[in-house]
Amino acid sequence: MTLRRPTIGVFDSGFGGLTVLKVLLEIIPDADYIYFGDTARLPYGSKSVDTVARYAVEAAHYLESHGAELLVIACNTATALAFDQITAAARVPVIGVVDPGAEAAASVSKNKRIVVVGTEATVASHAYRKALESRGLAAREKACPLLVPLVEEGWIEHAVTEEIVRIYLCEAFADGFHDADVLVLGCTHYPLLKPVLRRVAPAHVTIVDSAESTARAVAGRIGKLLNRGENAQEERRSLPRLKFFATDSVDKFRRLGERFLGHPIEKVQHVDLKE
Ligand code: DGL
Repeated sequence: MTLRRPTIGVFDSGFGGLTVLKVLLEIIPDADYIYFGDTARLPYGSKSVDTVARYAVEAAHYLESHGAELLVIACNTATALAFDQITAAARVPVIGVVDPGAEAAASVSKNKRIVVVGTEATVASHAYRKALESRGLAAREKACPLLVPLVEEGWIEHAVTEEIVRIYLCEAFADGFHDADVLVLGCTHYPLLKPVLRRVAPAHVTIVDSAESTARAVAGRIGKLLNRGENAQEERRSLPRLKFFATDSVDKFRRLGERFLGHPIEKVQHVDLKE
């Protein structure tokens, strides 16, 4: 029997989705990955539903045409605004970040009160609130638009970032949500801020990283794609093949991307998506 390693397509507006790829590589090393970062058109977090949906569907088609057998929408904004459109347009299964994040929050919360932080567009869509309410949880959503540029600037452990996080979380945990016991990181960039978020969030709060929850959801689905052929052990021992595509500067993708992925990115191919 011939063995095929499954190819997983990971899509994000830019570099941030590499936080999801990072966890995927840790927990599903026996797959190959193609990553598409729409760096020419980021940020998605301040764009309209129609624009984000159009961009995301184009990216999904690109990944499918390059062999993706499963699509992971690592971008919280794209998932929140356009998950249904992407799923309708795709021929392969699609996993977004919102449901796995909500599911993880539901499983750890004791008092069923959750704070979610994300981009303006994610928060305006109320995708997390709907996903949490459908699981019987109450949610306060808080847009934190300054955090994406601060992370991209590399101001991870910086006094300014800490102060801004403090202001955002203070507002998020106010007015009846001071007792919320889970903080959901509803943006690809926020996992890099976990140490500062941990310091600033109330001590009783558990932080749920939707990147981790999503990677676990993918692991649950991917079993069906993993063949059980006689060469399986041999093939699975080999390292994942990684391909990166970016719509803007490949140098910048390599430079910034390494911060999110946690290891060097060698080859990035430039993609010119026609409008
Ligand atoms: N990837 C986006 C998200 O997770 C953040 C960056 C952007 O706004 O494009 O919401």
